[in-house]
Amino acid sequence: MKKRVAIICGGRSSEHQISCISARGVLTAIDRDSFDPILIGITQSGKWVALNSADDFSKDKDGLPVVPELGIEISWSELKVDLAFPLLHGPYGEDGTIQGLFEMMNLPYVGSGVLASAVAMDKTFAKPIYADFGLKVADGITVHKSDWAQNQALEIAKISALGFPLFVKPARSGSSRGTSKVKSEGDIPAAIEAAHEHDPKALVEVAIKGREVECAVLEIDGKATASIIGEIRVHEPHEFYDFEAKYFDGSTSFDVPANIPEKISNQIRQAAVTAFEALGCEGLARVDFFLTDENELLINELNTMPGFTNSSVFPMLWQASGMSYGALITQLIMSALQRDRGVVR
Ligand SMILES: Nc1ncnc2c1ncn2[C@@H]1O[C@H](COP(=O)(O)OP(=O)(O)O)[C@@H](O)[C@H]1O
Ligand SMILES: [Mg+2]
Repeated sequence: MKKRVAIICGGRSSEHQISCISARGVLTAIDRDSFDPILIGITQSGKWVALNSADDFSKDKDGLPVVPELGIEISWSELKVDLAFPLLHGPYGEDGTIQGLFEMMNLPYVGSGVLASAVAMDKTFAKPIYADFGLKVADGITVHKSDWAQNQALEIAKISALGFPLFVKPARSGSSRGTSKVKSEGDIPAAIEAAHEHDPKALVEVAIKGREVECAVLEIDGKATASIIGEIRVHEPHEFYDFEAKYFDGSTSFDVPANIPEKISNQIRQAAVTAFEALGCEGLARVDFFLTDENELLINELNTMPGFTNSSVFPMLWQASGMSYGALITQLIMSALQRDRGVVR
């Protein structure tokens, strides 16, 4: 019997469109001899609708796919799904919320559980855990919207004490939305307010001068397995890996494998597995690091549902490690079906 796999995409986060593109990729590559994919879209207003195929997506002002608000709402009992593949990025999807729903429904699902998803999503909670497991992180502080409203001068003084340049970003977001590089005190208010547009909790960090290297961790037979390492190189005029650099104008290069000595690559792969295990991840995670000129390695973040189009970093790293996009999808589904279920496991 073919397994009925619910491919869930869209959602309420600012990464709605990227999620739809990931779903389109998975629908193209999923092994239809073994699985029956059922496409479910979550609209930007939070409605769950049935879609026949990726052709049912409508387009936003930039021509990117979105889940149409006018679709027919789904009924889980009629769909008779065996497994869920939540291809959702950011809050309300990558953060433990939908994982909690699946646990309540007793439905197996691809990827990390409730706790790992939630902790990885919130950089202010994840960082001290990484540090506790011996991974270096950038120094930083959290700026809550309420404190900012109450005493801006005090917050600015605390932020400035970190030294410049700085990065200001939402604690729980993705795709670099609401993230800015801050070079002087005068730029702090606009940066904090931009971050607070996405999250009442902003994270301020010292800017790390280093290369951005990424590792894709995949659970194979219950074991966290690291891919080869890739490097993102961002070209001028982008000062960092911002939203446009990520998705639009070809202003980044992706080196696979990264041009780094084997000894360092192996250290990065080991660190990626450590981060995966530190948070108790399952299924998959992309772990992003900074590598300084002195070969100091700092973890930036871990994404429990990284971009998953056929040209996204995670599938590309596995492709280069010998596993095709289609085989990767099968691997994720199989490990989700094999895993013991339940919130205490
Ligand atoms: N502390 C930092 N030092 C240097 N660059 C940073 C720092 N924090 C973020 N960046 C830059 O901003 C990008 C987005 O930040 P990140 O924390 O990865 O957020 P997101 O979850 O939106 O991807 C990074 O890929 C990097 O280019
Ligand atoms: Mg990132």
